Amino acid sequence: MVAGLSSLDSIELREKTVLVRVDLNVPMQGGKVTDNTRILRLLPTLEYLLKKNCRIILLSHFDRPKGKFVPSMSLAPLVDAVSEVLGGKEVKFGVDCVGTAAREAVNRLGKGEVLILENLRFHPQEEAGDENFARELASLGDIFINDAFSASHRAHASIVGLAKLLPTVAGRLMEQELEALDTMFAKAQKPIAAIVGGSKVSTKLALLENLSKTMDKILIGGAMANVFLQAQGYSIGKSLCESGMKKTALSLLKNAEKNNCKIILPVDLMVAKKFALHAPNRVVPVDAIPDDLTAVDIGPESVRLFVDELRECKTIVWNGPVGAFETSPFDISTVSIARSIAALTASGKCKSIAGGGDTVSALMHSGVMDSFSYFSTAGGAFLEWLEGKTLPGVVALLKAA
Ligand code: 3PG
Repeated sequence: MVAGLSSLDSIELREKTVLVRVDLNVPMQGGKVTDNTRILRLLPTLEYLLKKNCRIILLSHFDRPKGKFVPSMSLAPLVDAVSEVLGGKEVKFGVDCVGTAAREAVNRLGKGEVLILENLRFHPQEEAGDENFARELASLGDIFINDAFSASHRAHASIVGLAKLLPTVAGRLMEQELEALDTMFAKAQKPIAAIVGGSKVSTKLALLENLSKTMDKILIGGAMANVFLQAQGYSIGKSLCESGMKKTALSLLKNAEKNNCKIILPVDLMVAKKFALHAPNRVVPVDAIPDDLTAVDIGPESVRLFVDELRECKTIVWNGPVGAFETSPFDISTVSIARSIAALTASGKCKSIAGGGDTVSALMHSGVMDSFSYFSTAGGAFLEWLEGKTLPGVVALLKAA
């Protein structure tokens, strides 16, 4: 158990009405959930609460409706997905998360039953952290359980406000996420390396700065690497490259050196005319990128270099794919690195942790999701945690404990 946090075991839950903040913000297509990982990871909490014969009210956001009702962002389609994870158990739905509709839905809820209330973010007060809104939510239950680590970087009413108003504990997924992050970082075995990919340096600036203080090595891939390559004087053709970042990139490299953190950049790249499925491509060294081509993935020499560097590490953190992995064959390097880390993990040579929306999709795509020591269900929250920030939802839990 993470120090200072109260868990489900520390509170009397039998037959209580519990408000559980979960993250049902899952990938969907055509009204169907396409990846139910976040729901599956809620099972330990839900099963525990069902055993305690609780009335279970699930509170969640979905997407970013900006404070108004957006039909395509309703949580209604999640009813079937949650029911399926619960082995076909009936799951009820309340068409609003506050007001008469919510109260009536809660009043109709029996012991041992599960209710999902409509998207919290249909009300602007949720994101504003409005106290009255939190009070309305709190009036629906006896106990608040935060099981949404992945939304705990938001100081929203259902995350922070509720924790001030009701007896509050962490759910099992929250505990698991915090424990994994603690074991992987605070108690990490060295050497420790981070692979950072993705497209924009600006969105990962704080991350890179913080990692350069804590990591022994940072391996940079994806379009982010182009910024560093260009800053070092390479011509990068038509490759995606955030403008105005040269100074920042050079200063990051300098600071990392001061901190004894080795930055490893690609030495070759796969280039193509366009980002299209099976687009003709070739591999070129970073000093020979043709003017009319775009980097779409790192090359095989870079993969070898990255994997050799990773082989020396006891802990590996991964955030962000190293190529445009959604478009075949620009997934080759991401898949290859994912599989190498999985093999290193399986042989007991290292512990591995991955997080961030795209990273988890990349792991799923590579078929190695279960071979990592841990993967976080969080996107932004995982990033903010890596940036060294304190998450308001976690702070609220600690204060409530
Ligand atoms: C996520 O998917 O990272 C969480 O659900 C948080 O979503 P948000 O970035 O819209 O707050």
